[in-house]
Amino acid sequence: MAYSEEIRRRRTFAIVSHPDAGKTTLTEKLLLFGGAIHVAGAVKSNKIRKTATSDWMEIEKQRGISVATSVMAFDYANHKINILDTPGHQDFAEDTFRTLTAVDSVIIVIDAAKGVEAQTRKLMEVCRMRKTPVIVFVNKLDREGKDAFDLLDEIEEELQIKVRPLSWPIDMGQRFKGAYNIFEQKLDLYTPSKQYVTEYIEFKDVNNPELENHIGAPLAAKLREDLELIEGVYPVFDVETYLKGDIAPVFFGSALNNFGVKELLDCFIRIAPSPRPVQALERIVEPEEDNFAGFIFKIHANMDPNHRSCIAFVKICSGKFERNAIYKHVRFNKTMRFSSPTAFMAQKKEVLDEAFAGDIIGLPDTGNFKIGDTLTAGEELHFKGLPSFSPEMFKYIENADPMKAKQLNKGIEQLMDEGVAQLFTNQFNGRKIIGTVGQLQFEVIQYRLLHEYGAQCKWEPISLYKACWIESDNTQMLDNFKKRKSQYMALDKEGRDVYLADSSYVLTMAQQDFPDIKFHFTSEF
Ligand code: G4P
Repeated sequence: MAYSEEIRRRRTFAIVSHPDAGKTTLTEKLLLFGGAIHVAGAVKSNKIRKTATSDWMEIEKQRGISVATSVMAFDYANHKINILDTPGHQDFAEDTFRTLTAVDSVIIVIDAAKGVEAQTRKLMEVCRMRKTPVIVFVNKLDREGKDAFDLLDEIEEELQIKVRPLSWPIDMGQRFKGAYNIFEQKLDLYTPSKQYVTEYIEFKDVNNPELENHIGAPLAAKLREDLELIEGVYPVFDVETYLKGDIAPVFFGSALNNFGVKELLDCFIRIAPSPRPVQALERIVEPEEDNFAGFIFKIHANMDPNHRSCIAFVKICSGKFERNAIYKHVRFNKTMRFSSPTAFMAQKKEVLDEAFAGDIIGLPDTGNFKIGDTLTAGEELHFKGLPSFSPEMFKYIENADPMKAKQLNKGIEQLMDEGVAQLFTNQFNGRKIIGTVGQLQFEVIQYRLLHEYGAQCKWEPISLYKACWIESDNTQMLDNFKKRKSQYMALDKEGRDVYLADSSYVLTMAQQDFPDIKFHFTSEF
């Protein structure tokens, strides 16, 4: 197969949702379609969150297992599908955000009864920032849920994206009859059972009286009315608008019952983007270029003390990656050769000989990589930094063993490179502050510092509301601000100015008093 054809048939995406909306179930059904797994229940990585949150060691162990399911690749209808898994546990949200930088599109799962939830909102923000094309799957139609039109309004409002239904549910809950597939003009009938249930009937004209025979007169009338309203209210579906991230097609179904999943997948392979061009600092990198280039978006440490090693996850942005070829590690300006790169197939890892733009590969890492690092065939390229979000929890980190200061600093630096948490150094007192999105990370850091670096740390409380990256063209105002807030100024690990606001009130006042200063809540702007 020609090179460019290989690349064009790839679809690399992530399924995201608020915990419990049905991401794992949907992933599993997609894998079943791809023949990548044969029994339901095989994708367990996401079940992590169901263990007690305090038992983070157990969580890490499961995360270790989940490395194998971090990327699930399979072939379907002559397409190579790469699903990137995202951790279900809230405290690892930062991992999810970074994973989103490595995908070309996203499927968002929403629970029909719960509608848009907190985590979904945050994830959509990342998609919006990056203009990632998004498809919405409204799940659990076999249960009583919200009215479909209300859901669409809610999605538009809460996720701030225009929507366009491509399928439409026929009733719900116990009375759920199926859906009309607007995209393919088919009637999909539902039989309550957990097996393959979908019956597809070509149905180009819903005004055909045959419809009554399938779903009865009242539902047929309702469906016609709904579809008419949809055509009147929502714009005609346009793939280009979707690809620009300006409109999200919506499907309805029930992942558990495998209903609406094939429709989603069939539409997905037709409309979702193949690997997209990636903006590097120097230029735009096209996927079909001959030369290999890729970046590291995730580093996963193996917590087993007997096999301490990391896997760096590389997203290939262009060309072909070959085993044992010489590549350049741009930050170090040195060449490297990889003899055992791994591909992730659902459930198993295997050594690969070649991979193409769009694919994710795993490289064994012994501390050479940090998140955002670029590998190329020789060119000096830097892919734009991966976003860091303002952490939600902050603590001072202090040395608890004065003999091991060096080890502590090295450990902190490497863990931050891995993206475990964020480090800010207060410019006023020189103290180091660690910022995380959840309590678990503090425990992970403390444990790993001790077991991997022989260093002991202790935490001291600090009351902070948010960290914001600041910038301004008005240098005088910026200087004034820094002077006035000197006790709250810090540098992040790249040396950028960060203002640590101790309350939302103080932050609002600062924004009012210093109108020329931009306060950013992510580090990529
Ligand atoms: P997540 O990855 O988004 O967190 O959700 P997950 O797939 O684990 O699904 C959460 C729960 O919702 C599971 O039930 C799952 O069986 C159920 N579920 C998923 N899709 C549907 C659907 O279409 N209809 C209905 N009625 N339920 C659905 P659980 O009891 O928490 O777990 P399990 O014991 O069934 O695995």
